[in-house]
This record gives sequence, C-alpha cells and structure tokens, in this order.
Amino acid sequence: MIRPHGSETLKPRYVEDVGLRSELVREAANLPKLLMCSQAAANAVMLGSGYFTPLSGFMNLADALAVAGEMKATCGLFWPIPILNVASEVSGIRDAKRIALLDPNVEGHPVLAIQDVLSIEEATEEQMRFMAEKVFRTTDSKHPGVNNFLSAGRFLVAGPIQVLNYSYFATDFPDTFRTAMEIREIIHRRGWKKVVAFQTRNPMHRAHEALVKIAMQRVGADGAIIHMLLGKLKEGDIPASVRDASIRKMVELYFEPNTCEITGYGFDMLYAGPREAVLHAIFRQNMGATHLIVGRDHAGVGNYYGPFDAQEIFRKEVPPGALEIQIFEADHTAYSKVVGDVIMMREAPPGHRPEDFVNLSGTKVREMLSAGQELPPEFARPEVARILMDYYRSLAEA
Ligand code: ADX
Repeated sequence: MIRPHGSETLKPRYVEDVGLRSELVREAANLPKLLMCSQAAANAVMLGSGYFTPLSGFMNLADALAVAGEMKATCGLFWPIPILNVASEVSGIRDAKRIALLDPNVEGHPVLAIQDVLSIEEATEEQMRFMAEKVFRTTDSKHPGVNNFLSAGRFLVAGPIQVLNYSYFATDFPDTFRTAMEIREIIHRRGWKKVVAFQTRNPMHRAHEALVKIAMQRVGADGAIIHMLLGKLKEGDIPASVRDASIRKMVELYFEPNTCEITGYGFDMLYAGPREAVLHAIFRQNMGATHLIVGRDHAGVGNYYGPFDAQEIFRKEVPPGALEIQIFEADHTAYSKVVGDVIMMREAPPGHRPEDFVNLSGTKVREMLSAGQELPPEFARPEVARILMDYYRSLAEA
C-alpha cells in the first residue's frame, strides 16, 4: 500500500491503550488547562486519527513561518499549512510543562488531549499576516478562513500531544467518521490497489458523481473513497448530517455496489484553496489513497482563487517526489444537453456552445431550494434534491 507522508508507518497520536488512556484522563484533571479554539481542536483530531502523519503535535513559530513561507518545516519535511495550537490567553499555562487541552466543541469542555509544552511564543501581528497571506493568498478578513485564523489569538503553544478522544466526530457521525488507520484497513480488506479519494464539503450533485466515476475509470481504480469534511463550515454551507444522507442516497442508487466507501474526517474547512488542496493530498496519502481528485475551485471560496489554482500548485510549487499520491486533474464538469450526459467541458464535441451546458451556481441552487423549487434533474439526482429540499423547508419552518 502507498506509504504515509514522510514516514514508513502511520503515526496516529490517539492513545489506543484503554488503560493508559484512563490514566491520562485522570492525570488531566490535575493539569493546567487550555480551552482550545475550534481550529486547534480539529488539528488535534486530525493528529489523533493519523491523517497528519508524521507530525507529533503543534508547530512552533519557526516551523509555522517556514511552512507558511516555503511549505517546508525546519526539519525539511514538506508541509503546506501551519498546524497550530493558537490561543489569545495563556496566563493559566505560563510555566506549565504539560497541559490538558479542552474541547471547545463539546458541552462541558471535556479534555481532548494532553500536550507537552515545548514552547509558548507570541507571534507578532506582522507574522500572523505573513502566514495568512502565504496560506490563504489574502489577508482580507472577509475571507472566512483568514477571519478565523487572525481572530484566534497570537500565542503559539507548541509541542507533541496525546489524543484521548475524537471529539464530537466519533459520537455524532459513527457511521461516517473514520480515522486514517481505519481507511487503510478498509482498503486492505477490500484488496484495492488503486484508490481514488474524493474530497467534499457539499452534497454530491451530478457533476460530483461524474467526477468520481470519470476519475475511477481513467485511472483504472479498484475503488473510490468519498471523504467528506465533518467539521465547521462557513454560514450557508450545508450541515454534515444532510450532506451525509444525500451522499449515501446517491451512492446507493447510482454507483455499482462495492465500488465506493462513504467516509468522513474531523476537520474544519479552511477555504485555503491551493494550499488546502496540498494538505488534502497529504492526508489522503496517509489514509492509503493513490489518487486525489482536484477539480474546479477546490477548497475555494468567493473569488479569492482562480478556478484551477489548486491544480497548478501541484505542478508549480510542490517539489517533485514530495508526495506519492497522484492528482487527478478534472476540468469543469457539467451536464451537456447535446451529449445527454455529464462531461468535462474540455471534452465537449466540436460546435458545443456554453449554453448547451446545464450550469447552476451554488447561490442559485440555494435560492431555488429555499424557494421550494425543484432542481433540474440534469443538475441533481431527484432523490438527492428531495433530501436537500426537506432540509431547506425545515430551515424555513424553524
Ligand atoms: S470543496 O471545497 O470540498 O472542494 P466541493 O465539495 O464542491 O468543494 O468539491 C469537491 C471536489 O469536486 C473538488 O475537487 C472540486 O474542485 C470538485 N468540483 C466540484 N464541482 C465541480 C465541477 N462542476 N466541475 C469540476 N470539479 C468540480
């Protein structure tokens, strides 16, 4: 199977041993405590579930600046986005060597992890803006990822962690949340050699469905892993439970049996476009996928990125050999009334006109659903559209 990133084996930071885990929970009760921000908690879950192999914990300032600046940690490890435990207030943990990290996303703020504190450094405003500019290509606070990043504080609490649970992801999404270890196990059990991963934060419309099928066919894949984000999104995006239900329905009705696994991971969306695509590739390699689909405006938001910047970064900025996973570059995909199927636009037959495609923007889709209008069957499978309409109706009634 494909090797994990920068390591021969996966390095999950979750403490598997039940006895040791309860010992650590007891220890945590007496440790100085830090209530994490949501992004840091999501980082801890990703570290726990093996996706961020070979990292052992949170980066210090030197690593954060190097990763943001050159996509390389000070040890030389290729990495695209600083993995930080940032806080705005650290008076309670000032001289501590070991601290308990509290989960901001679960009622009562239980302990999520224990951290060995190697350093606490305060980044300057300028350093924070430098990192934002490099990672998000903008410092505009209207960008949802930038806004989160710049409002979480400037203290960087660095050091390795031991993760004690998977936050709300394991409890709220027991059928969907999977660790990198579990996905490797699934791939192994199924005997798949070539595995296409599909990143998504949306319900899957016909374009998404076709992307997965086209990619599988072109790379000769044995199977696909739909890997949906289960963490926080910006306002207006569709919640994970609704996406999960609609994706399950689509796969059940429109995919060959046993060709597709529906899974999810515990992370908040950064909307960092190209840099996030590179992070996506790393953690799909860690879960055992050989290919990642990167299509139009991957992990993007608004007009901050060009439609294919997230493909270009792999060609122009990722050094050869830095990743083993391969990128399946997909063109803009839509239903063609001429062909009678969903196709990649660059493969349209001669004489095909833009208006021959059925194209709806995300905003238009939301407007239609909110108004209780059916989505065109060329755009969304009717069974999927039904689930989305029910969700929008429930919003209207609330
Ligand atoms: S993302 O933020 O997770 O990238 P989304 O779930 O919409 O958003 O997209 C998942 C993947 O499908 C990404 O690789 C994206 O580029 C691709 N994609 C979505 N819609 C299209 C489309 N119409 N044409 C080509 N690629 C698309």
